[in-house]
Order: sequence, then structure tokens, then C-alpha cells
Amino acid sequence: MGKLEGKVAFITGAARGQGRAHAVLMAREGADIAALDICRDLPYPRYSLAMRSDLEETVRQVREYGRQALELVADVRDSAAMAAAVEKTIATFGHIDILICNAGIADMALTWDITEEWWDMMLDVNLKGYWLAVKYVVPRMLAQGTGGSIVMTSSVAGLRGEPGMAHYCASKWGVVGLANSLAHELAPHHITVNTLHPTAVDTDIITGMAQAADMATEDLVEFIRHGNALPVKLIDVEDVAKAALWLVSGEARYVTGQKLNIDAGRMLK
Ligand SMILES: NC(=O)c1ccc[n+]([C@@H]2O[C@H](COP(=O)([O-])OP(=O)(O)OC[C@H]3O[C@@H](n4cnc5c(N)ncnc54)[C@H](O)[C@@H]3O)[C@@H](O)[C@H]2O)c1
Repeated sequence: MGKLEGKVAFITGAARGQGRAHAVLMAREGADIAALDICRDLPYPRYSLAMRSDLEETVRQVREYGRQALELVADVRDSAAMAAAVEKTIATFGHIDILICNAGIADMALTWDITEEWWDMMLDVNLKGYWLAVKYVVPRMLAQGTGGSIVMTSSVAGLRGEPGMAHYCASKWGVVGLANSLAHELAPHHITVNTLHPTAVDTDIITGMAQAADMATEDLVEFIRHGNALPVKLIDVEDVAKAALWLVSGEARYVTGQKLNIDAGRMLK
């Protein structure tokens, strides 16, 4: 029997990268999946986001494990769309036990070169988007009265500053404040709230950031490698998904308000 048998996970940014890895691993462990993604490009960041075919691929992989998958196309910044996505999930599955706030964007520019439009977009997607998911999912979890688990993907950039990433760092530090406050509020209801802090992960964000910084991807990866204490260039999406799985499985039922670094020792340096 899987670790998440009978559970439903609502995952944002599920079309590719880490979001897909969360969806597939949780499905392997028995969860049904509500997979949400924007499936179109935005004016910012300066790289392409996932497309509908990516979300369909996630859904296909979830179903391969014999689990149900609900495909949800929504922008996490859009309050009405997020409310509707949560409603549809409840109408389909009847409950939500796990929330993974993961949809995010990144970019690189010196702090004074960041435009107001870029600043607002970064904070809206990476922070307001997480809050909106919480705003609509949490009342459902409370009404169910059966506890729950919330995991928010922050970053090493949510633990320290990074040159050329002030708006990204501000959003990821903000996620920690959101998660920690929520952990206090939800503890009496047996709902845990934790943040993940990965070092660089091998996803499209890395090529996207290199593109934005006008760098060769190999040069950016080399720069990243020097920051990791363990000898690894980029960690895999599964490394992050396994950490999230532990947090949402019964094995971590008394773990809340924690910041879990999956950082190849980056914070040691
Ligand atoms: N890749 C890394 O090095 C790294 C490191 C630390 C933290 N993170 C964080 O991990 C999370 C996942 O990123 P990833 O590495 O899988 O990158 P990714 O670009 O492959 O995945 C991000 C997903 O979010 C979706 N998305 C973006 N904006 C959206 C919006 N407004 N509404 C709905 N969906 C939207 C994209 O379409 C995409 O599918 C992000 O929050 C990111 O900041 C990434």
C-alpha cells in the first residue's frame, strides 16, 4: 500500500519540472492529483512557461500509476480562477488533503535594473499565487476536519540574498513568512505547513535564467556548482519530490513550521 492511499493532492505548477515530479511521485504513492498550471506564456519572465501539452503529459504519467488526475488550467495570480479550480477539485474528488505551492518564475537582473513590471510580476506569481492557493484550499481542509499537509517551495534564495535576484529572493523570503504564520494558525487543526529550500534544480528555470542573464547555460551551471558543498551541478526534480513526499506522508506528522534545505550543502558556505 502506498504512503498516500486515499489522499488528494492539489499541486500548482504541475505541468513540468518539480511540479510534475511531485504529481507523479505522489500518484505512485496512491494519491489522486489535481494538477494546475497556467499553460501559456506571460509577458514576464523572459522565458517560456509550460504549455497545455506539458500538463497533459503530467496527467498521462499520473494515470499510468492508476490514479485519477484532474487537469486545471489557471493563473495562480487570478483569484476567481483559483477559487474555481479548488471548487472543481472538490466536486471531482470530494476532498483535498495535500497542497503543494510550487508554481513559480525566476529571472536575473541587478536590483536597480529591475522594472516595476518585473518586480510586481515576480511577487504576484511567487508569493500572492501561493497565498491564493492557501486562501481557497485551507477552508476546505478545515471543513473536512481530517488534518492535512501544506508544502511551499521556497529556495536557498529564501534563506539568503543572491546577486541579481533581489525580486526573486524577496518573493522566496516572503514564502517563509507566509508559511510560518500559517503553521501557527493551522497547528491546532493538525495541518502541517513547511517550506522546501532547494539549491539549483535541473529544470527549464535554469535555462530560462541563463537566457535572461545573457549567459551560456553551462557558465551559469558552473557558477552554481561552485556554490554547492556536495559535488553536484544541479540536483534532480526527484530529490525535491522525495523530500515533499516525506513531509506529506504520515512519517512527518509532527513536523511543522520547518525549513527543509535540499541544498547540497549550499548553506554551509
Ligand atoms: N529550478 C531551480 O533551480 C529552483 C531552485 C529553487 C526553487 N525553485 C522553485 O521551484 C518551483 C518550481 O520550479 P521549476 O524549477 O520546476 O521550474 P519550471 O519553470 O519548470 O516550473 C514552474 C511551473 O510553474 C508554472 N507557472 C509559472 N507561472 C505560473 C502562473 N502564474 N500560474 C500557474 N502556473 C505557473 C509554469 O508554467 C511551470 O510549469 C518554483 O517555485 C521555483 O521558484 C526552483
